Formats: sequence, C-alpha cells, structure tokens
Amino acid sequence: MSIIGDIQKPVKGHIDQFEIVFRDAIRSKVSLLDLIMRYLTRRKGKQIRPLFVFLSAELSGGVTDSSHRAAAMIELLHTATLVHDDVVDDSNERRGAFSINALWKNKIAVLAGDYLLSRGLLLAVENKEFGLLQIVSAATREMSEGELLQIEKARRLDIKEEIYYEIIRKKTAVLIAACCAAGAASAGASEEQIANMYKFGELVGMAFQVKDDLFDYHKSNLIGKPNGIDIREQKMTLPLIFTLNNVDSSTKSKIINTVKNHNKDRARVDEVIEIVHKNGGLEYAHQRMIQFASEAKTLLSQYQDSDVKNALFSLVDYVISRDK
Ligand code: IPE
Ligand code: IPE
Ligand code: MG
Ligand code: MG
Repeated sequence: MSIIGDIQKPVKGHIDQFEIVFRDAIRSKVSLLDLIMRYLTRRKGKQIRPLFVFLSAELSGGVTDSSHRAAAMIELLHTATLVHDDVVDDSNERRGAFSINALWKNKIAVLAGDYLLSRGLLLAVENKEFGLLQIVSAATREMSEGELLQIEKARRLDIKEEIYYEIIRKKTAVLIAACCAAGAASAGASEEQIANMYKFGELVGMAFQVKDDLFDYHKSNLIGKPNGIDIREQKMTLPLIFTLNNVDSSTKSKIINTVKNHNKDRARVDEVIEIVHKNGGLEYAHQRMIQFASEAKTLLSQYQDSDVKNALFSLVDYVISRDK
C-alpha cells in the first residue's frame, strides 16, 4: 500500500464517502461548467485536507456528519484557490495535466473558481454549519491577504525571512489549521482542544509550504506542476532569501538583477537556481521545514496513544517527505 494509503486507513471509509459527496457537490446544469468540474474530479489531488479533517475529528471524539461537511467544504475552497492561483501565477500545469486556465483561458478559470467557492459556502449555509463557516471564511480571508502580500513583497525584492513566514502562514498554513480545528470542533472537542489542533495544523501547514517552495527548485518535473516558476513570478521563497543573505555582494546583485529584469529568461533563472543549490539554500529551507514539523508533533503528545494519533504523526512525516 502507498504511504498515503496507510495513513488513510483509520478513516478510509470516510474518505471514500467524501469523494462521492465532493463529486456530487460540484455538478452543474450549465454544461461548460459541468465539463470543467468533471475535468477537475478526474484529476483529484492528494486530498490531504480532508484527511486532516477526519483524523483530527477521530482524535477528538469521532467523525460526525459535520466532519464530512467540513471536509467537503474545505476541499471545495482549496480547489477554488488552486484554479485562481494558476491564473495569478500564469501556470499551465496542475496535477500532472493542463491547468483550467491553460485549457479554457483566464476568464473561464476565474468564474469556475468562483463557482467552486460558492458551492463550498452554500454547503455550509444549507446545513446551518455556522461555526464551520466562521472558521473557513476566516481562513479564506487570510489566504487572499497572503497571496496579495506576496505580490506586494515581490515588487520590493528585499523580503525578510519573517515576512516570508507571514506570507506562507496566511496563504497555506491557515487552511490546514482550519482543517484540524474544524475536524476537532465537529467531534465536539473543547475550545482549548480546538485551539491546540488549530496550532498543530498551522505548524504542519508551514512545513507544507516550505516543502512546496523546495519543489520549485528541483530539476526534475515529476510533481505534476512546473518548476522554476517562483522566480519567474518574482516570488522570494526561503531558499532564495537564505541565499541572498549569505552570498557576496556581487552575487547578490546578479541574483537581484535576474529576478528584477530577466525573470522570464529561463537560462538566467536556471543560473540563479544553481547559485541557490550551491550556497545551501535548499539545506537551510529543509532544516526549517523539519523544525516546523517537529513543533507540530510536540502538540500531539498530550493525546493518548492510538492508531489515529500514529496516523497523524505519519501524515506530518508525509508532508515533509512527499514527492508530489
Ligand atoms: C497545493 O496544495 C497548493 C499549496 C498550498 C502549495 P496541494 O499540494 O495539497 O494540492 P493538491 O490538492 O494535492 O493538488
Ligand atoms: C500556494 O502557493 C497557493 C495557494 C494557497 C493556492 P503556490 O503558488 O506556490 O502553489 P502552487 O505551487 O501553485 O501549488
Ligand atoms: Mg502557484
Ligand atoms: Mg508552489
């Protein structure tokens, strides 16, 4: 069995049920939209967010109907943000296939993303899940802020490590935090436990995005999305930030010149990637990623030992060791 298959084991029945609910939730009578939605369901992602919801719920008392609505709602929002993100990043590949904007152009991708977002919100409203709506809407707000903060900082090119953490916390970690908090809440956990699971998810989410940013510096393209596009989009991620702070001033000027003026020139971008490799940028980011993951694990230690707790530990390991 695959690593993720093993981790899913304690909640496998729930994941299977989730897939059916998710597929049905996005059907549309507008045939163009339905075509796009079918395309999306055929290329499902790793579905780690529903897994965080179910495992957190199971750890906190047991999966309920509310946990299912949380899982579906969050995966809908996540999918919406990916469809929009590929427009923003001008990226033509996702999950090993063409992105929605690559196939149907930006206009349609923006509207399809809005549709997914509205289906997620409706799912909560129709079931009067106002607590869930609160948790997830707050996360969605922070995600938009995170993506915009990233664009704002990309223009300055002197981004500090702390600002990078603020960006990835907002754009990625808060949604994983929402998964764990909503999962715990759906199982009737106390406020204190919900807050603890939120923090756990946030730390895992930080590790998750550092890993994603490391992928962009990899030479092989087996992860199902393009590499080297963060520099093209002038995204200053951790490997590059570390490198800029640790090279001599002429190398630093060279890197900045490329990011500022030649960021669409693939040969120049590859040269910067090479400099980052040679100056320990990847090792540094890797270390920080491991640190976030181990802080996350510490928060789980207060729970009694169980299969579910072990699965969550393995899920943290998967987040930092995954190959896509
Ligand atoms: C991609 O998330 C977006 C980021 C936050 C980096 P995933 O890597 O979970 O995407 P899928 O759903 O598995 O494709
Ligand atoms: C995460 O950032 C984006 C979202 C929160 C949707 P990236 O732009 O790095 O994500 P990928 O690499 O395109 O999946
Ligand atoms: Mg992107
Ligand atoms: Mg990325």
